[in-house]
Amino acid sequence: MATDNLISDVLIIGGGVAGLSLALRLADEDLSITILSKSELNEGSSLYAQGGIAAVLDDDDNFEAHIDDTHVAGASLCKDKTVRKVVEGAPSAINWLIKKGVKFTVSEGREYDGQDGEYHLTKEGGHSHRRVIHAKDATGREVETTLEENVRQLPNVQIFEHHIAIDLITSEKLRTNKSSRCFGAYALDIKEKKVKTFGARAVILSTGGASKAYLYSTNPDTSTGDGIAMAWRAGCRIANMEFVQFHPTCLFHPYAKGSLISEAVRGEGGLLKLPNGERFMDAHHPQAELAPRDIVARAIDYEMKKGGFDSVYLDISHRPKEFILEHFPNIAASCEKFGYDMTAGSIPVVPAAHYTCGGILTDTKGRTDLKRLYAVGESSCTGLHGANRLASNSLLECLVIAKSAAKDIRKRLRKDDITIPSLPKWDESQVSNPDEQIVVSHNWDELRRFMWDYVGIVRTDNRLKRARNRVELLQEEIIEYYGNFRVNNDLIELRNLATVAELTIECALNRKESRGLHYTLDYPETRQLARDNILTPNNFAAHPPIREWLA
Ligand code: FAD
Ligand code: SIN
Repeated sequence: MATDNLISDVLIIGGGVAGLSLALRLADEDLSITILSKSELNEGSSLYAQGGIAAVLDDDDNFEAHIDDTHVAGASLCKDKTVRKVVEGAPSAINWLIKKGVKFTVSEGREYDGQDGEYHLTKEGGHSHRRVIHAKDATGREVETTLEENVRQLPNVQIFEHHIAIDLITSEKLRTNKSSRCFGAYALDIKEKKVKTFGARAVILSTGGASKAYLYSTNPDTSTGDGIAMAWRAGCRIANMEFVQFHPTCLFHPYAKGSLISEAVRGEGGLLKLPNGERFMDAHHPQAELAPRDIVARAIDYEMKKGGFDSVYLDISHRPKEFILEHFPNIAASCEKFGYDMTAGSIPVVPAAHYTCGGILTDTKGRTDLKRLYAVGESSCTGLHGANRLASNSLLECLVIAKSAAKDIRKRLRKDDITIPSLPKWDESQVSNPDEQIVVSHNWDELRRFMWDYVGIVRTDNRLKRARNRVELLQEEIIEYYGNFRVNNDLIELRNLATVAELTIECALNRKESRGLHYTLDYPETRQLARDNILTPNNFAAHPPIREWLA
């Protein structure tokens, strides 16, 4: 089997808002950029984002309030330096998007003037002000497709769709004496069934989150934690993986695969009810339906278990029909597809895995432990989200950190003239074609089921240990399978999912308290001192030391 060898200055793995905005930020430089995406370029969580992007854009709002809300949601675990940088960088990130052509929804009665305007700001859980700028209820689609249009016009960018990165190429793999650094990645061309070698002077992991480790998830199939697993294998530290965010309101229907009902529906007056029509959130938190997400998801889980219900209900039908259809046209249409009219009555909802707060440990420039390897977006852990992400702070993080990562990459690539050594070809001499694909799909199913049952919204040490036993068995099978058979995308993703499951369980077992999204019946109290949970691999790269995380 032939192996290609493709070299560029910058290799970006992932085509979501993190990866594409980074490519655009580097575009004015004379740099060759390669983008890999394991599906179509725009397929990923970014495309499906609904609510919007949090930014202080209103005169009545202020940075301190947004910073404070982020810290409160994050249950005292957010890094203040990161929070300030991201919050203060928000207005200019929004302006940048508008200049790139993103059309946000303006306030009622005003025409979009193409440059500026009174944008409509919605509200979501945990926010003390209306500060979420949006494009109706499909913000992600508007932002992602606009960035995609811009990127596709860049002459110095080469895009490889349906190419799934398998592993990073590091000095450790090359057995050079140089300090630990990243030289590129191996990727499988899914259509051609061929492994290619991508060499680069700087590599960025913008591969998104890992919510597909759970049976029920709002995420598209791409969210299998590939970047997190690759970085771990390459010697990078991983932090705070126990903080898996469950979105409270996903449409409950056997065929509605992860159909999200935006928090903005509650922001605009939607109420959560039991099957008998009674509200219940008042009893759980003073902010009721607009309490931080961890609290609402846990309250729903509690009420469902207590009453033996399959779901609870979300009701916004008291608002005028025109208002609902104007603000939530896509959500209303997807409800209708499954037989629910949200303008006329309540819709059944359940929580589902939504966001990975932990990830590859980075500083505010996206730098990881491995020289010349960056991580941006949901695959990273910058310290912004702490123990629970504030709604609509994620797209914002992608945009702000991509900008500072681009600046750092530019500086470093200008400073030293690195040459990429000759990279070894992917070795397939010892493997054959897989005999039974069923092994992979069965293991995938088992993993997602035990993660849901044992590592879900409410945990105990016993459940976590059960999950650890199962993941260990799976790992053994996967390693054996991986060592003997030719790789395919299902196997690559399963291997990564098993790694992120293992890291999540390890972090959850380490945390002997309940904080933010990690709630355990064995340790229900929150400790006074908030501590990060940092996992260090045996082959720890340790270069450069990331100052923000040394404290
Ligand atoms: P993604 O957008 O997930 O992109 C990852 C990319 O990496 C994809 O192109 C994927 O194909 C590629 N990739 C992955 N692995 C590999 C590999 N091995 N090789 C090659 N390519 C790979 N956040 C907000 O702030 N506001 C919202 O309103 C909001 N709503 C949301 C609604 C939904 C339904 C979901 C699922 C999430 C929402 N979020 C929201 C969260 C937010 O959308 C994501 O956190 C964010 O888009 C992540 O961007 P990203 O670029 O890091 O990753
Ligand atoms: C939503 O629209 O409810 C999702 C917002 C987010 O995840 O930040």
